[in-house]
Amino acid sequence: MLSNRLKNITPSYTIGISKRVAEMKADGIRIIDMSIGEPAFDIPKASKAKGISAFESGYTHYDLVPGLLPLRKAIAEKLANENGVHYDASEIVVSSGAKQAITNALLAALNPGDEVIIPAPYWTSYPEMVKLCGGAPVIVQTDASSDYKITEAHLKAHFTSKTKMLILNNPSNPTGNIYTRDELLSIADFCVQNRIWILSDEIYESLVYDTKFVSVASLSEQAKSIVFLVNGLSKSAAMTGLRIGYTAAPAPVAKYLSVIQGHLVSHPSTVSQWAAVGALTEGQDEMKERRDVYKKRRDIIYDKLCTIKGLSVQKPEGAFYFFLDMSPYKQKFPFSEHYSVELCDTLLNQEHIAAVPGIAFGKDDFIRLSYAGDLNDMLEGLDILKVFLEKYL
Ligand SMILES: Cc1ncc(COP(=O)(O)O)c(C=O)c1O
Repeated sequence: MLSNRLKNITPSYTIGISKRVAEMKADGIRIIDMSIGEPAFDIPKASKAKGISAFESGYTHYDLVPGLLPLRKAIAEKLANENGVHYDASEIVVSSGAKQAITNALLAALNPGDEVIIPAPYWTSYPEMVKLCGGAPVIVQTDASSDYKITEAHLKAHFTSKTKMLILNNPSNPTGNIYTRDELLSIADFCVQNRIWILSDEIYESLVYDTKFVSVASLSEQAKSIVFLVNGLSKSAAMTGLRIGYTAAPAPVAKYLSVIQGHLVSHPSTVSQWAAVGALTEGQDEMKERRDVYKKRRDIIYDKLCTIKGLSVQKPEGAFYFFLDMSPYKQKFPFSEHYSVELCDTLLNQEHIAAVPGIAFGKDDFIRLSYAGDLNDMLEGLDILKVFLEKYL
């Protein structure tokens, strides 16, 4: 009776793990949670103040579908000042999290059966979102030789007459890798020449540690004309529960995103939007301080991971994850079907450590550890992980 669309949709692994961790904690078990995809920080003070004042001022009614004008202006200013890419407020649509921004873009771009190139490892929801919007995900495996990033050569090898879009996650969840300007130039050139949209998911853009982040839309007017630039406040301002994301796109495209959103949800919560105005206009310093905290944490954890025998660790350049290759332990670890799932199940049930299986990102030999939670807990967890893994060498 239900839609065929649901037949091959997989529930979110990450949400499934969070649920199990919550259940185990409710049973009184202490879990060291390295599966989390959200900052443990509170929202910036300015966000809180603006949100409270919005409630008190009665800003709780319907407003403009693409988002509050002061918010869209603040986003346009942020994109110009920090990313060197110029959009008018009319080219910005504020949505309920980056998830909805991505869904709006897919609904706007895809006809049934259109192919969307998704480099693996990928953020777990992309393939399912593409399927839900009627498209066909084309998973392109990448490896260490390109730092797990897609290249023009990959695109050439997988491009067909049905290719409609490339999803580029920069910085990447799960690897934390960042595309250089030159890498983006060759990808953008190929996509411009072959009329392929680029959905550039830049949700981790504020968490970049060693290099300067380059937004693909900032490369040229031609590049900008094919980009749906998606970002939001979930990771930068820890506003995960307030659900504010946005898309910047050429004016005629933004108009359609607004039409889609108008029918689906109207707009995100007005109170959350005012909180986002606070973050973008007065919360920048606090957000930068947090980035510095994450950078220090990344370095400490990297050093600790490097002491685990058999593990080769790539230092992530951004986001708050380590994506670890578990293949050295595979031979001796007893598993029947999905190595990363069974490894993470054992870690959770036996060692009380939560990690996300790589299969959720299209790579079954890997696991993802997040350092967004408590540092001391994580260091304790890594001691346990070291003893656990070295048994399988
Ligand atoms: C790469 C990536 N894109 C989008 C999202 C969704 O962000 P939001 O919570 O703003 O919908 C996430 C959340 O984990 C993510 O990792």
